[in-house]
Amino acid sequence: MPSFQTSPGTRDILPPQAGRWRAFSAVFADVVESAGYECVIPPMFEELGVFLRLGDATDVVTKEMYDFEDKGGRHIALRPEHTAGICRAFAQHRPATPWKVWYSGSNFRYEKAQAGRYRQFDQVGIEVLGASDPLLDVEVIALGWQFFAALGLRSVELMVNSLGDPGDRTAYIDALRTYLTSRSSELSDEARVTLDRNPLRVLDSKRPQDATVIAGAPTIDAYLSNEAKEHFSTVIAGLDALGIPYRVNTGLVRGLDYYQRTVFEYVATALDNAQTAVGGGGRYDGLVEDLGGPETAGVGFALGVDRTLLACDSEEVFLAESPAVDVFVVDVVNGMSALTLCDTIRAAGYVADRAFDGRSMKSQMKSADRCGARLAVIVGADEAEAGTCTVRNLSTSEQTVVQQSDLIQHLALVLGERQPRRNTQ
Ligand code: HAM
Repeated sequence: MPSFQTSPGTRDILPPQAGRWRAFSAVFADVVESAGYECVIPPMFEELGVFLRLGDATDVVTKEMYDFEDKGGRHIALRPEHTAGICRAFAQHRPATPWKVWYSGSNFRYEKAQAGRYRQFDQVGIEVLGASDPLLDVEVIALGWQFFAALGLRSVELMVNSLGDPGDRTAYIDALRTYLTSRSSELSDEARVTLDRNPLRVLDSKRPQDATVIAGAPTIDAYLSNEAKEHFSTVIAGLDALGIPYRVNTGLVRGLDYYQRTVFEYVATALDNAQTAVGGGGRYDGLVEDLGGPETAGVGFALGVDRTLLACDSEEVFLAESPAVDVFVVDVVNGMSALTLCDTIRAAGYVADRAFDGRSMKSQMKSADRCGARLAVIVGADEAEAGTCTVRNLSTSEQTVVQQSDLIQHLALVLGERQPRRNTQ
């Protein structure tokens, strides 16, 4: 047993999985950049105050924050999500609006670790600041939906709801508190504690004991102002126009407190544990103002990379792949030809690998097979002397002797032309 292991809730993402993570961000970037979103990289830690607006009654703030005093006496927190930091950045830099940005990075929450729930987890997401048009909510929701489709996922369900304007939300929370309090003797002990802190969160309870009480609870739709209702019906009309299937779920309240009007969640039905929410978001007009900026509308989502990849595993799509090696150079002289030939082959745009430590011909050929290379380029004493090499097709075993100086031309014939990585002239 080694002396050190990863901390609970953290994991090493090893090859080939790590390559899959990179590919995941690349597909996400491709989808959202097609809609004009640009990449933003906010810091991983901020002053704690930036995150307090996520909700003084939410677990993220009260129980899960990784916060500490730094050597300069500042109260710092590792980001539990990206949205608040991006609103802080907007307030600080005042870019032109609408500001459409995307991100990809780690977040930290001191949660009870289990499959699909980690203490360090990654999200990709988008945020738009400075536009309150309900059709923007539709664009945002649709981009998440299209990204899941681009990964090949088929079992994702979209749930949408409106939390109304802040006044609607307050009136609803009062009504919900009154109702839940009147039936508190039927609730689980955990739900009773949650009710004291935040009645909305009781609606998230998955305990069978709470289900009947929740089923009879008042729903937010009856408390929406006319403006909020109109906003929501335009969102619904937009989703219909794009042919995106959804379910209006009046019990969807989300885990963070900054939302108003549209909220939504993507649920992977192929995941059979409790961690089925692969992403979520909504509108958070007012958050920038709370962080000291101008009055600014905001909407966005974040998708959990870890959980979405678990969903991909269960649907057997977007699987991890090791990079394909084009050429394995086998040098049985002194390794010098392998050094220079690999350099030339890589510069010409192909993927080349080789063995080290003076291995035997047999052992090098085994490595060539193991890495799945299409061709072996073999240099023995005779070839080194004549400035040639033997190119062996590893699936047909066909061999051709070519001049080392003509090798790239030969590769172009066999493997096709590639874009050179650099000029070797
Ligand atoms: P969230 O619902 O807290 O929202 O997180 C979004 C997604 O991140 C979740 O649906 C889940 O897939 C993933 N996630 C959250 N916590 C964990 C965890 N401990 N382990 C693994 N995955 C996790 C937000 O973070 C908001 N900032 C979303 C947003 C953006 N709203 C507006 N803009």
